[in-house]
Amino acid sequence: MAWRSSNDCWSVADLRWHHVHMDDLVSQCVEAMADSDSAGSIQDVLRRAVSTSRLAESLPSLEPGLNVLFRDSNLTILNIVWPPNFALFPHDHRMWAALCIYGGREDNTFFRRQDDGLVRSGGKDLVEGDVQMLGADVIHSVRNPGQSHTGAIHVYGGDFFAVERSQWDAETLNEQPYDINSVNRAFESAEQAFRSDQS
Ligand SMILES: [Fe+2]
Repeated sequence: MAWRSSNDCWSVADLRWHHVHMDDLVSQCVEAMADSDSAGSIQDVLRRAVSTSRLAESLPSLEPGLNVLFRDSNLTILNIVWPPNFALFPHDHRMWAALCIYGGREDNTFFRRQDDGLVRSGGKDLVEGDVQMLGADVIHSVRNPGQSHTGAIHVYGGDFFAVERSQWDAETLNEQPYDINSVNRAFESAEQAFRSDQS
């Protein structure tokens, strides 16, 4: 996937097309939430969107991190840009999630609770074009092992930012309250490390 730097400009045609197409994706997800199997319908929307190259083409280059496309009490849509060679500590969501990779790679490691700690419980490496559902009780860590950015649309069946949940220290696996600021800091420091390697 060609990745535009944040300094690149979009033409008027690019912008018009981008808005139309992204509005389509968001509105299709919102409509899918009215279905009885909303998670399944969201999955179908994402599969259709990523099955053509137009999804990747429609997405502007954003800063690494969690970029919010839509948020309400029962649906959150994020465009997540993962810095190269970046690993995010284990965390849960406490709501279903649908992951859709439109560029690069996203390696998931799963965990389950054991006694008062966590144990590893398999993994799933996702590549461009993949759509993966995660149940509400999933605990995972995510890694971009590549040397380029990964782009992914993540859709959650709730308000991703309002629900109380947990994260675990990457080394000790000690449980802590989920802290969005620590997530943002992790993205920023990984992006800085990448940029300093480039200079
Ligand atoms: Fe996650």
